[in-house]
Amino acid sequence: MYSLEGHVMALQPASLTKLGIRNSCKGLGFCVRFRFMFLAALLGVVCVALLYNSNFTKDKPVFMRREQVKKKSIQPVVTKQWFMPNITTEMYILSAYYDDRPTIDPKTRPAIRIIGMADKNKVEKEKFSCIVTFEGLKNSILQPMAVTEIGTGGGCHGKHFREYIFVCAPIKFTAKKAIFVSVVDQTYLNQNNWESHEHVRIPVRYPSRENKVDFGSCVSITFWTLDPYRIVEWVELHKLWGVKEINIYGSMMNETTERVFLYYHQQGILTYTRMLRSMNESGELVLNLMGTPVLNDCMYRNMYRYEKIVVTDLDEMIVPRGNMMTYSELIDAIEKETKPRHPHRMYNFRNVYYFSELPQNTSEPQVTLTLRQIYHLRELTPVGTSTKSIIDPMACRNVHNHYCWKIAETFEKTRHSIHVHEKFGMNQHYKKCHFDKYATAYHLPPCKEALKNYTYDPTMLKFKTNLLRNIEKPLKDLQLIKGGQIYHF
Ligand SMILES: *[C@@H]1O[C@H](CO)[C@@H](O)[C@H](O)[C@H]1NC(C)=O
Ligand SMILES: *[C@@H]1O[C@H](CO)[C@@H](O)[C@H](O)[C@H]1NC(C)=O
Ligand SMILES: *[C@@H]1O[C@H](CO)[C@@H](O)[C@H](O)[C@H]1NC(C)=O
Ligand SMILES: *[C@@H]1O[C@H](CO)[C@@H](O)[C@H](O)[C@H]1NC(C)=O
Ligand SMILES: *[C@@H]1O[C@H](CO)[C@@H](O)[C@H](O)[C@H]1NC(C)=O
Repeated sequence: MYSLEGHVMALQPASLTKLGIRNSCKGLGFCVRFRFMFLAALLGVVCVALLYNSNFTKDKPVFMRREQVKKKSIQPVVTKQWFMPNITTEMYILSAYYDDRPTIDPKTRPAIRIIGMADKNKVEKEKFSCIVTFEGLKNSILQPMAVTEIGTGGGCHGKHFREYIFVCAPIKFTAKKAIFVSVVDQTYLNQNNWESHEHVRIPVRYPSRENKVDFGSCVSITFWTLDPYRIVEWVELHKLWGVKEINIYGSMMNETTERVFLYYHQQGILTYTRMLRSMNESGELVLNLMGTPVLNDCMYRNMYRYEKIVVTDLDEMIVPRGNMMTYSELIDAIEKETKPRHPHRMYNFRNVYYFSELPQNTSEPQVTLTLRQIYHLRELTPVGTSTKSIIDPMACRNVHNHYCWKIAETFEKTRHSIHVHEKFGMNQHYKKCHFDKYATAYHLPPCKEALKNYTYDPTMLKFKTNLLRNIEKPLKDLQLIKGGQIYHF
């Protein structure tokens, strides 16, 4: 068995169990989510309107398979910190990526995309600039910067923080390599001589083009405690469906949970990154603020390597229905019924709740929730709400937890995204009924009522043989079962 000792570091002391703690961060909540639903509906309308209006009809088939993946070397687990520009605007930067994708507007190409979060009030009032340092060039270059949103944010220590990508574009010199970028606000420029003053320099990352795969997975921030059995099941199912690499960013992770991520990291199927918190707060809201920054970090880091990116959380999964067994079969089937062709299409899947209060098949092993939980609410979540997606990194500039928010300019007027009919696949969401908590905000029925209307769904049973075969070794290696007796649990 692979030894995990030594990899498990107690990075985030003591504060794992502060689930109930009150702190100074507040979420924005629901009103904003309604806005997204509206946007999603609008997107749908625009898509339909553009259906007969696209240039992509004659493009070559959309989807290529790259099953032959070179064995890559396993990198050690990285711990990521936030950069804090020393400016009057409170700002936390996660990373900066060089973006020369052919699908972005030539007028803004190449760009440096700077991913982070900042005080919304200041961002809306101030002008921002970037200072770019080039390799072999003595003087840095100051240029204006555009602000784009990747989230709706929340309140922390008396300020409203929001998640952003700051866009430094187009980069003035392309013959030289941009190696660092700094973010400064107007107050800083007024008070300091930027050419001689020190500023926090963020390394510019160049996304790798090696080891391309057809499907990668990006998961929003993961924190505290998750059921280790459910992680093993989730990872093994995604492997069956053809995902070649999963990215988990963990913060304040329970050691038992983290052991599973470290195990799969060592196997090469999963890239685990430890995230330090941006602000010294222990509640859930500062962790939630880190969600879309890590998703965008994942997309930009892998934009030349992943043909498609599956964006889901660890309590849900996009499952191919009917007799389809893999994501590539799923995409092929959808494409067959979708005209016109598009070289970089994105897919939004409907959400359906497999609430844990619904009946379960207790004859199935306890370690495989998806085989036990074979009933779901009859009613699907309305189109555009709680949708989860398979996105295309060539078509997306800003990704959000549910779908791509900002489309690459070249594709803005094409049928870049579709709502997938539920016969192809759905986002299966496994959790306790949460309707009572959000009843008024979302006009949801109380759980007591909602749970009365459910239906049997054997979809997961077609994966049963392979799933049971594949979870055995990881569960044994992780000492989560004794003697390989999956059925005894
Ligand atoms: C931040 O900037 C201020 C004013 O320019 C300066 O006095 C201070 O030393 C800087 N702090 C750091 C940590 O660089
Ligand atoms: C971590 O998770 C395990 C298993 O769920 C649990 O038994 C343990 O109490 C958790 N540890 C902390 C510090 O919360
Ligand atoms: C973070 O907050 C905790 C609790 O409020 C405090 O004890 C600690 O000193 C703070 N750490 C930093 C680096 O500010
Ligand atoms: C429950 O699981 C058992 C054991 O696999 C199986 O024989 C039975 O048909 C299942 N029941 C349902 C309703 O799927
Ligand atoms: C149950 O859900 C279905 C599908 O949405 C709906 O047609 C039906 O009216 C619901 N039945 C009850 C009793 O609410």
